[in-house]
Amino acid sequence: MTMADIIVRQETAADVRAIDVVNLSAFEGEAEAILVTALRQSEHYIPELSLVAEIDNRIVGHILLSRAYLGRPGGEMDVLALAPMAVVPSQSHRGIGSALVRAAITKAASLGHKAIVVVGHPEFYARFGLEKASKWDIRCLLPVPEESVQAIELAKGALSGGGTLRYPALLTEFFRQTVQ
Ligand SMILES: CC(C)(COP(=O)(O)OP(=O)(O)OC[C@H]1O[C@@H](n2cnc3c(N)ncnc32)[C@H](O)[C@@H]1OP(=O)(O)O)[C@@H](O)C(=O)NCCC(=O)NCCS
Repeated sequence: MTMADIIVRQETAADVRAIDVVNLSAFEGEAEAILVTALRQSEHYIPELSLVAEIDNRIVGHILLSRAYLGRPGGEMDVLALAPMAVVPSQSHRGIGSALVRAAITKAASLGHKAIVVVGHPEFYARFGLEKASKWDIRCLLPVPEESVQAIELAKGALSGGGTLRYPALLTEFFRQTVQ
């Protein structure tokens, strides 16, 4: 398999079950599959930013960016929360996850979004330009380790001044239940 064989594209209604299978196979429980279903039905969902990776017409990975909010003195700014992302175990370590993150960043920027935040492994996300959110004085009230909260500006200076991240209730609940 070469990178050229991976197609990354927006999800369609026909992909919903396959995306469930990707999440159920990549994670230990059902929480991520349930989260994706709930976000898809919510006001925070952005159809253009639910992307699948396909090899030979099979869905092997999925990434979802949905709306979150950065509270600051002048009011709230929309940002994007990256969660979850998954690659089927049999296809991991082949660059599919990286292709999904890169495509999501490019698409989000082209749609005019200002910034992305993610709770995850810094060793994985640093390669895409994500940095510790604390660098911008961004506070996150989720019960997660501070170094796991990372961000990237899609518009220069968008995060300067920092603020307090507010995740939609269903994402907050997800992190409460899944992150120790
Ligand atoms: C994390 C995940 C999406 C990466 O997908 P992938 O297609 O294997 O990613 P890539 O091949 O582009 O990159 C692999 C690199 O990511 C890094 N990586 C993968 N999983 C990692 C983890 N749990 N912690 C830290 N780094 C990790 C490693 O550096 C790895 O490099 P290697 O292949 O040389 O070992 C995939 O392993 C997965 O679905 N894991 C289970 C679900 C999950 O943890 N999702 C992320 C949190 S929402």
